[in-house]
Amino acid sequence: MTKIDDQVRQTIARILKVNHAGECGAIRIYAAQIFVAGWLYPDLVPELRTFLLHEKVHCQAFLDALNIRKGRPCAAMSLWSTGGTLLGLGCALLGRNAIMVCTQAVEQTVHRHLQAQIAFLSDHDEPLRSLIESIRVQELEHLDYARERIKPSFVNAPLCAFIEASTEIVIWLSTQGAVSRMEKALR
Ligand SMILES: [Fe+2]
Ligand SMILES: [Fe+2]
Repeated sequence: MTKIDDQVRQTIARILKVNHAGECGAIRIYAAQIFVAGWLYPDLVPELRTFLLHEKVHCQAFLDALNIRKGRPCAAMSLWSTGGTLLGLGCALLGRNAIMVCTQAVEQTVHRHLQAQIAFLSDHDEPLRSLIESIRVQELEHLDYARERIKPSFVNAPLCAFIEASTEIVIWLSTQGAVSRMEKALR
């Protein structure tokens, strides 16, 4: 195997590792939001439950893809799980608008990464490209749902920026910057 093949294989393993960990984080976020929304905003629960179900399917699909390619799950999984729970709980306690801002921030970060991964994989791994494309469509539904429900508030921009930056830091740490380097190279 050439060095380039090896590099591509390693990048794909890191993409899958971070995607699987990210879906675990998303599961924790939605589960925490549902927990609080059950008490405070019950009208949001059915949609949040649907999104939670989507994230569980995505998580399993990435785990299967990881196993097929003999990759390993993220070593920092507890960071994603704990971070997801705290983020979901914190935002839900801030109010229903913060739930939507949280969903928007996380989903648009996810969407940006998936777009870059799709571009990279189109030359290297068609089955995975097609899986990510189908997941991207559902992530966009989550993003659109949140965007349509956000009410204007001075809190929105700083909260969104904080969540996006935190998500990017955890992604960087989980892949030792490999995903960021791949995306830079694709620009
Ligand atoms: Fe997802
Ligand atoms: Fe999502």
